[in-house]
Amino acid sequence: MINASNIAEINEQFQNLEPRHILQEVLNEYPHAAISFSGAEDVALVVMAKKIRPDIRVFTLDTGRLHPETYRFIELVREQYALDIEFLYPDTEAVQALTREKGLFSFYRDGHEQCCGIRKTEPLRRKLASVDAWITGQRKDQSPTRTNVPIAQIDTSFAGPGKTLLKFNPFANWRSKDVWDYIRMFELPYNPLHDRGFISIGCEPCTKAVGPNQHEREGRWWWEEATAKECGLHALNIE
Ligand code: ADX
Ligand code: SF4
Repeated sequence: MINASNIAEINEQFQNLEPRHILQEVLNEYPHAAISFSGAEDVALVVMAKKIRPDIRVFTLDTGRLHPETYRFIELVREQYALDIEFLYPDTEAVQALTREKGLFSFYRDGHEQCCGIRKTEPLRRKLASVDAWITGQRKDQSPTRTNVPIAQIDTSFAGPGKTLLKFNPFANWRSKDVWDYIRMFELPYNPLHDRGFISIGCEPCTKAVGPNQHEREGRWWWEEATAKECGLHALNIE
């Protein structure tokens, strides 16, 4: 049994398991868990899950601002693995109001919170209202804000009233190298931007390639302070 009352204990047990065994346990218990796929190296997570449960449910937050390469890559993965991907879109009126008032690049001037709130957080909140378990590709080594990411936790940011939402990060203890070893070993397709210096990939205006010895997160919202680089999806990390 995995539930809110024993989540700390489950998290302890999961520390000794490989991601595929963690996924197996979670999907046995929560067959309708939703996996979020960003179109980057978390392809390893969705392919691993698909092997365990062919009817796995995946969702992508289509912010409208992803790179063309990312859209093509997500479609390639959807077709190649016959993945059931649900694309989630921001509220049209909210996007219209934002761009009418502030234009298309307001985040460079007043921070990414408002745009991410409209294009990512609100559609995610709508989605998570209908599930009891959420699986992500977050890792501890991704960012200073993620060094304490557990494998299993209760998500208090997106649980609706009277609802408990469990969040699982099966890759939490994997390093970037482990993910890439998996991608190469199983010859998974990957986003072509990774061959052009992009490590962490988000929306096109808010992601850039990084140079030698730069941390992967330095290419995300590079005009902002590193310790605040969460877009609202994983705000739990900086609460
Ligand atoms: S972000 O919050 O900074 O954008 P990051 O790119 O590191 O997140 O990805 C970590 C995990 O968040 C991904 O493995 C995925 O589960 C989820 N995620 C990030 N962006 C998206 C997206 N556009 N759609 C769906 N899930 C996403
Ligand atoms: Fe908007 Fe940038 Fe956030 Fe994408 S990452 S939703 S473009 S602020």
